[in-house]
Amino acid sequence: SMIKVAVLGYGNIGSGVVQVLLKNKETIAKKAGDEIVPACVLDLRDFPGDVMEDKVVKDINLITQNPEISIVVETMGGTKPAYAFVKACLEAGKHVATSNKELVAAHGPELLEIAKAHHVSFLFEASVGGGIPIIRPLNQSLTADEIDEITGILNGTTNYMLTKMDTEGADYDAVLKEAQNKGYAERHPEADVEGYDACRKIAILTSLVCGQQVDFEDIHTEGITKITPTDIKYAQAMGRAIKLLATSKKGPKGYTAIVAPFLLPASHPLYAVNGVFNAIFVHGNVLGDAMFYGSGAGKLPTASAVVADVVEMAKNLDKNIPIEWSSKKLELVDYKEWENRFFIRTTADKAAVERVFGTVTYVQAEGVTGELGFVTEKISEGDCEKKEAELGNVLQKIRVA
Ligand code: HSE
Repeated sequence: SMIKVAVLGYGNIGSGVVQVLLKNKETIAKKAGDEIVPACVLDLRDFPGDVMEDKVVKDINLITQNPEISIVVETMGGTKPAYAFVKACLEAGKHVATSNKELVAAHGPELLEIAKAHHVSFLFEASVGGGIPIIRPLNQSLTADEIDEITGILNGTTNYMLTKMDTEGADYDAVLKEAQNKGYAERHPEADVEGYDACRKIAILTSLVCGQQVDFEDIHTEGITKITPTDIKYAQAMGRAIKLLATSKKGPKGYTAIVAPFLLPASHPLYAVNGVFNAIFVHGNVLGDAMFYGSGAGKLPTASAVVADVVEMAKNLDKNIPIEWSSKKLELVDYKEWENRFFIRTTADKAAVERVFGTVTYVQAEGVTGELGFVTEKISEGDCEKKEAELGNVLQKIRVA
């Protein structure tokens, strides 16, 4: 016997999945207990000269109605038509593994329920952190804990960009293009640079931690589009690095989540996470701290996580692998109640700064004149917004971790 896999979407990740299945065929067969073969790919395009050239299908029914196919991999991205296709495959009794964080963030609980009803599994290890195992650890390993914090660098593209801007003084547009060429970036790069991708990923992680649905629309999200070389000079003057963090914390009133650039000190566990690497810091009430670190984007790392899901399904062909994630919505605590210190740049004078913000710490960046940079005491997000409005002339605000 052998296990036949169909791949929906033969782009960067989909072709990576086929490549991994072929390249590591023997190892995978040993781990799965059976040979796993890529039987067909669904794509509107043709792929002359490709190993799958003769195995391209254009009609999803040829997959859902093919009894030989037991596992489907979805790497199309987006929700249309991925959602309808995945649903149809699960309803046809096929296991599905996906790398699609948009799909998982928007429809995770429903697809898990459908999978369960049809005695198959819906797995999505590759949807967060590229090749880093984080979904399975949260579901199967860190089960003794109340997880009270998850903080991650969850987007490889922006981390690559910020690293190059910091170490090489690279230009924003040039370095974005580089990330695209390396196959890290989303089709629409605003998904990366505006923080939407990281937002969906922290929504997925938070949902898994609390077992309820966290709507990504509820998460306050800022990207890196407003980060300038001047900000990086200030960061360097402070001995800090600017990182796009996606974080969720449980306080006395419940969970709050936010995606935004933060200034990290060298002592922070995520400070040294550079380039396309991602890392996820987890704090549990009995575990203490744990960190997951590795390749966060790109063809083969992401395919590695997808194929690991395929192997897991191959080992559990006749059953549903349960994942606790109900469709009951979790109300997040308003991010405005969160307290932070904030780094602010302004053209206002010191008297005005101190009248509005009280005690602050000024920062002098090399070669920067005609403005003030300062760090506030710990205040709430809401308070900070009010004070910024009162001060006026604010050029930039970055949270200080
Ligand atoms: N565009 C994403 C990133 C791909 O840069 O992290 C991995 O999800």
